Amino acid sequence: MNKLNSTQLIIENNIALIKICREKQLNALNQAVLDELSLVLNDVQINSSVKAVIITGQGEKSFVAGADIKEFQNFSKEEGRLLAQNGQHNVFDKIENFSKPVIAAINGYALGGGLELALSCHIRVASENAKLGFPECSLGLIPGYGGTQRLGQIVGKGFAFEMILTGKMIDVNRAQNIGLVNQISQLESLIEDAKKIAKSCIKNSPKALSAAIKCINKSFYTDGYELEIKEFSELFENDEFKEGVLAFLEKRRPNF
Ligand code: CAA
Repeated sequence: MNKLNSTQLIIENNIALIKICREKQLNALNQAVLDELSLVLNDVQINSSVKAVIITGQGEKSFVAGADIKEFQNFSKEEGRLLAQNGQHNVFDKIENFSKPVIAAINGYALGGGLELALSCHIRVASENAKLGFPECSLGLIPGYGGTQRLGQIVGKGFAFEMILTGKMIDVNRAQNIGLVNQISQLESLIEDAKKIAKSCIKNSPKALSAAIKCINKSFYTDGYELEIKEFSELFENDEFKEGVLAFLEKRRPNF
């Protein structure tokens, strides 16, 4: 594999730890991160020594604070469509359909695309300082990496509407109460706790794990992802999107 710049991969004791490394930008997902994640996932999928995967973010503040707003600020509808479609196919769907257990170790903010990344993982552990939310509607957008589909599958329709329509962040206690995270950990022991879960999984039969993942996913199959891509891309042509993004960059509230 080529040298990694925006991600890090450490394989130890049959567990691959993938870290997103853009700490100054709160690990926001730009194209470089998404491209590397896609390659690393391909590599890890075919590496027979890897039996489980953990995904986390660099630093103590943020897992992933969403898609990189600065990168898509001037996108057209078509560019918005490709952003959502390629992201979904190359990273988010790949994680959900991975044949080995994938655990999100949420070490701080998991917002927008960052929460979507966590939702595409099979199991979520979050540190006590984590904050989770979908702020997209405040940017004049909707989640575009499968969040409108996977959130309701995990927490139910009522909480999905609340989180996406209000855009408010929730803390880990609420997240655990609504089933959004499986476990809360102290930040210092987050990765160790994620590894314990990984070890519990990988003592089981790899073929059975792969079959279980396939079957559980099948029960939640939906074609709403295509609609999400369409609605997401159409919002890029809208004045409210321009105002929402400008407000974020100017560190003020949007005026819709
Ligand atoms: N994209 C690009 N840059 C981001 C970012 C993002 N999603 N999130 C944070 N950053 C950058 C900030 O612009 C800032 O950069 P500068 O130092 O160059 O100004 C740096 O990271 C540190 O962030 P803040 O100064 O804002 O830190 P804070 O502690 O004051 O606030 C925060 C933290 C509440 C997480 C805030 O950064 C924030 O609200 N981030 C955006 C969250 C968001 O809206 N995510 C959704 C993105 S859209 C999406 O994900 C679409 C999709 O589904 C495909």
